[in-house]
Amino acid sequence: MTSEDFNLFRTLIYDTCGIDFQPDKSFLLEARLRKRMQQCNISTYIKYYQYLTRGLVGAQELIVLVDSITINETNFFRNRPQFELLVTVVLSELIAKKKQTGNRRLRIWSAGCSSGQEPYSIAISLLENIPFIDLWDVKILASDISLRILEVAEAGRYLEPQLRGLKQEEKDKYFFKNNNDEYFINERVKKLVAFDYHNLKHDNGLRGFDIIFCRNVMIYFDQIGCSKLVDRFANSLIPGGYIFIGHAETLKGLSTRFKMIYHNKGIAYRKES
Ligand SMILES: C[S@@+](CC[C@H](N)C(=O)[O-])C[C@H]1O[C@@H](n2cnc3c(N)ncnc32)[C@H](O)[C@@H]1O
Repeated sequence: MTSEDFNLFRTLIYDTCGIDFQPDKSFLLEARLRKRMQQCNISTYIKYYQYLTRGLVGAQELIVLVDSITINETNFFRNRPQFELLVTVVLSELIAKKKQTGNRRLRIWSAGCSSGQEPYSIAISLLENIPFIDLWDVKILASDISLRILEVAEAGRYLEPQLRGLKQEEKDKYFFKNNNDEYFINERVKKLVAFDYHNLKHDNGLRGFDIIFCRNVMIYFDQIGCSKLVDRFANSLIPGGYIFIGHAETLKGLSTRFKMIYHNKGIAYRKES
């Protein structure tokens, strides 16, 4: 792949979904492109680029290509201290405030939810920690740009290695295991989560979220893309709402609208303005 070819695809992918392939990762992009080109029976990069950028068929192929370049690494209760912070600080504060005003609505967004482990971990945390949860109007929106991974998430069916991060008692309580060693997430957890396709490059127009999880997604975006994304998240949150980001990510230099909250190695950010 020449550097001209690489730059063409790098720009196209960046403009489409915000993922910024650095030149030292060109081999990764090349491998994915080759696979798709083979499947489409196209032999040169330039022909594939032209195919992608023309008409409806191209737009559909672009969705498939983006899907194939996403990295969906995840696990249940990834970064557990953040879930402890969620429960002990964030939920207890938000719930106390809401009770005072008689507001029993709780909206959470798992943005870049991958195969569902993150939103289901949030749901389990809520079930474990909100007394009389059935009296609350709780919804977790879980979105991703990969249709392939959303299908896995929605099915809520996992093999043992995909249950990494769960305690035995959580497996016993929230999963059903069939004779093929497949684990199915329990309906009580599932019904709290709604999955949807969404490209984080764009505003989904949704407002009034109490909490947003967007972890290990911004690492693939550049600084400008991250700043814009964080600003859109701030607009989607209620005043005093919270955002959780990945442990290798920071809001420093991206936004002044949040204050960092730290509790027992867990970090989150509260919206201040
Ligand atoms: C590494 S996974 C992180 C999953 C989960 N949040 C976690 O921390 O375990 C990153 C996810 O972000 C999604 N993603 C990447 N770019 C996206 C975009 N522009 N819009 C929506 N989702 C995106 C990928 O498809 C992938 O499932």
